[in-house]
Amino acid sequence: MKQPISIRPPEGRLGVLLPGLGAVATTFIAGVMLARRGLGQPIGSLTQMGTIRLGKRTDAESPRIHDFLGLASLDQLVFGAWDIFPDNAWESALHANVLERAHLDPIRDELEAIRPFPGVFFPEYVRKLDGTHVKKGATKADLVEQLRGDIRTFIRDNGCARAVAVWCASTEVYVSANGVHHTVETFEKALQHNDPTISNSQMYAWACIKEGVPFANGAPNLALDFPAAFELARQHGVPVAGKDFKTGQTLMKTVIAPALKARMLGVRGWFSTNILGNRDGEVLDDPGSFKSKEVTKLGVLDYILQPHLHASLYGDLFHKVRIEYYPPRGDAKEGWDNIDIFGWLGYPMQIKIDFLCRDSILAAPIVLDLALLLDFAQRAGFAGVQEWLSFYFKCPMHAPELYPEHDLFIQLMKLKNTMRWAMGAEPITHLGHEYYD
Ligand SMILES: NC(=O)c1ccc[n+]([C@@H]2O[C@H](COP(=O)([O-])OP(=O)(O)OC[C@H]3O[C@@H](n4cnc5c(N)ncnc54)[C@H](O)[C@@H]3O)[C@@H](O)[C@H]2O)c1
Repeated sequence: MKQPISIRPPEGRLGVLLPGLGAVATTFIAGVMLARRGLGQPIGSLTQMGTIRLGKRTDAESPRIHDFLGLASLDQLVFGAWDIFPDNAWESALHANVLERAHLDPIRDELEAIRPFPGVFFPEYVRKLDGTHVKKGATKADLVEQLRGDIRTFIRDNGCARAVAVWCASTEVYVSANGVHHTVETFEKALQHNDPTISNSQMYAWACIKEGVPFANGAPNLALDFPAAFELARQHGVPVAGKDFKTGQTLMKTVIAPALKARMLGVRGWFSTNILGNRDGEVLDDPGSFKSKEVTKLGVLDYILQPHLHASLYGDLFHKVRIEYYPPRGDAKEGWDNIDIFGWLGYPMQIKIDFLCRDSILAAPIVLDLALLLDFAQRAGFAGVQEWLSFYFKCPMHAPELYPEHDLFIQLMKLKNTMRWAMGAEPITHLGHEYYD
């Protein structure tokens, strides 16, 4: 990544393309529509609410991130989507039952106008859904071409200057990369041959990258974190990021674990369980999809606590994560954590966290930030994996030779210092010796 010499201004309309028009996508779209009419605040969005300190603490200079970076404004956003059900955004928002009618009614016409393109759907990747609004094609290469056609149509019909995509569709079953995912050439050949290890999300990501559309993966499945996609993204000058929005339980975990580690307190066990009753919960009830989620949720503690460096504190840590589908709760998820810790001389203690959260209310601002920041990244000339956006993900994508950074506060520092660096301002190290010289 090179420091930008100049950054293209955010002129014109920015298309935000969402594979998956479900609870998260409609909550995001509705929130933006309400915010731009002054009927709601984009709470939880760092780009809209956050500030960034520049210079010394005594300089008192903290512009809004939005203004500092010159991001596209909410008024410039236009929404498009794909889904395997034909419901428009209004119908889908009613079905998701996240926002109240008092919020949805004023924007009904705008929501009804958002009708999804038919999706690309091989049901073996999401076993709990039986999509009816799907594309047909002789090969997976043909389906990628159809998706590319949708992108071009959307951009043309809506007079967009450019577009970004954020995957908000269901979590797919766990698959790992193989030889097919090695190079652009092997992947393109495999598309022609309908290779069964190419998933729905991989086809969307591939189509977006080829159309020069930055892509963020909000789910834990393997959509583009493999060498062929990295290569394609660099070839086409497209920034990409992922994966799996960090919203509820993992957000808390990546705050609490660094605190325990900072004080060198031991952890013997960490049991995390969730109940949720939305469609996402239903999809995650399938062991294949749960496995994708489990892997992203389990990874964080090992990287934060570094048991290889601190065997006596974290070497025997037992970490378990469960998700239970419980329809009465809908989108209002409950995430429990029981943490067995130990201190001075090995004396045991416990921490209990009960986070009564709302899944899509926490995810919507992340979709907004990723759309705006990926657009910024592309205008700044950044291509390939954007590790500085780790802040938003449970399982951050990173260069192959690195380990991922999971500590929320290191991620935040990295995010803000990347913003400063991109804009030609001094990064802040927090050293601060000069105040005492
Ligand atoms: N806090 C959160 O809500 C949170 C956090 C992390 C990750 N996520 C992930 O975000 C995604 C969206 O969550 P949600 O609650 O909106 O789920 P949802 O089930 O309400 O919406 C997903 C939508 O994707 C559609 N879909 C499935 N496969 C598709 C395909 N191949 N093409 C097009 N559309 C397809 C479904 O029909 C559905 O409408 C899920 O993968 C979830 O795991 C959510």
